[in-house]
Amino acid sequence: MNSPARSLIGQTIMDDGPISFETFMEIALYSDVGYYQNEDIFGVAGDYYTSPHIHPIFASLCALQVEKMWKTMDRPSPFFIIEQGAGDATLAKDFSEAISILNQDLYSSLTYTCVDRRQIEIADDSHMEIVQSDYVAPFHRTGVLISNELIDSFPVRMIEVRDGEIFEIYVGIDTQGNFEEILIPITLDDYADFMPSNIRQLNGYRGPINTKMDDWYRNISDALNCGFVITIDYGFDREVFFSMEKSHRLLQTYYKHIDGSNPFQRIGSQDITAHVDFDTLKQSGYKYGFKEFGYFSQAEWLNSMGLDHLLRNMRKDSLEKSRIINLISGLNDISGLGGFKVLIQGKNVEHFDMRDLNANIFWPQELELPQVKNVHMANSKKLESRETKFF
Ligand SMILES: C[S@@+](CC[C@H](N)C(=O)[O-])C[C@H]1O[C@@H](n2cnc3c(N)ncnc32)[C@H](O)[C@@H]1O
Repeated sequence: MNSPARSLIGQTIMDDGPISFETFMEIALYSDVGYYQNEDIFGVAGDYYTSPHIHPIFASLCALQVEKMWKTMDRPSPFFIIEQGAGDATLAKDFSEAISILNQDLYSSLTYTCVDRRQIEIADDSHMEIVQSDYVAPFHRTGVLISNELIDSFPVRMIEVRDGEIFEIYVGIDTQGNFEEILIPITLDDYADFMPSNIRQLNGYRGPINTKMDDWYRNISDALNCGFVITIDYGFDREVFFSMEKSHRLLQTYYKHIDGSNPFQRIGSQDITAHVDFDTLKQSGYKYGFKEFGYFSQAEWLNSMGLDHLLRNMRKDSLEKSRIINLISGLNDISGLGGFKVLIQGKNVEHFDMRDLNANIFWPQELELPQVKNVHMANSKKLESRETKFF
């Protein structure tokens, strides 16, 4: 069936000729008829869960990390948190609530700005600002820029290696009116910063090239004058990313909790995402003044702020509690969400040491953790008998 997004892509190709895979993905996800215009994307009724949707404990631990950063920076006021790719603002709301419980001084200095290409609707909150955009305004602020699963949603180019030659995949239309891949030869120099120099030896390799990362750092270096960037996403170091083991396995689609790999199906109804090459991400950051402070698995990062300790101390005294503990354990399960990467970078904060930034920080025992809400998987029993695929 011809979805509006499929028709728009078809028309673009008829008008302009074959388009890069990056342009295909841009239209399929972000045009007026693209996937991200759909209403129910996140949660039980949607296509996938992300860490903030599991349980608000995820946002509480992010809040602990940011509070420590704020204290280490000598408690600047005003203090800005910018969350780019905020989705349905689950992390934003829970984070803000956690800070209000944790530290009133920080809460009163705080403006939390959610930036997303899709429209976000939230109740009025004097600490919260919503911006519908694909970039962050260049205000040279002091604070923290945080994102969860933003970089994997940037449109990517696709390359393939055949007999020692590198090709970029374009999308055209065949004589039957179906989309077809067209391979255009390129050289190493075309994407020199994004591919390893030995790529031609990987005969048969196919994978994404995310050149948008570079534009992103250029943008956020104008947005953040002093502070930290916390990037949470899934992906690999370059050596693993550009390997035959990962070839053809780095671009994924998500529809109703089922993952696939054919971006030409369900255009406009399914998400398309690409794993992140974290070495290229770090290198792009360096170019724009963002120094690496820490690089962890999500499990290591959350445990360094006491998640494992909290889990050990939660009593499994009812079936319901056991269910919640199992769910939360997914956040630090290395074969699932715990295997995501957390990259912490800083700009104009060279004098700080990462060991001071996330060591010995625990949610104070006398404080309640924020309450579970409808949006959280912890509040839903519907998915228990279904298989849930995490990004
Ligand atoms: C996979 S979703 C993650 C949403 C949310 N962070 C979460 O963890 O549930 C990616 C989000 O990033 C947004 N996005 C993609 N590119 C963006 C950009 N350049 N600027 C702002 N938002 C962007 C998408 O609209 C989408 O809401």
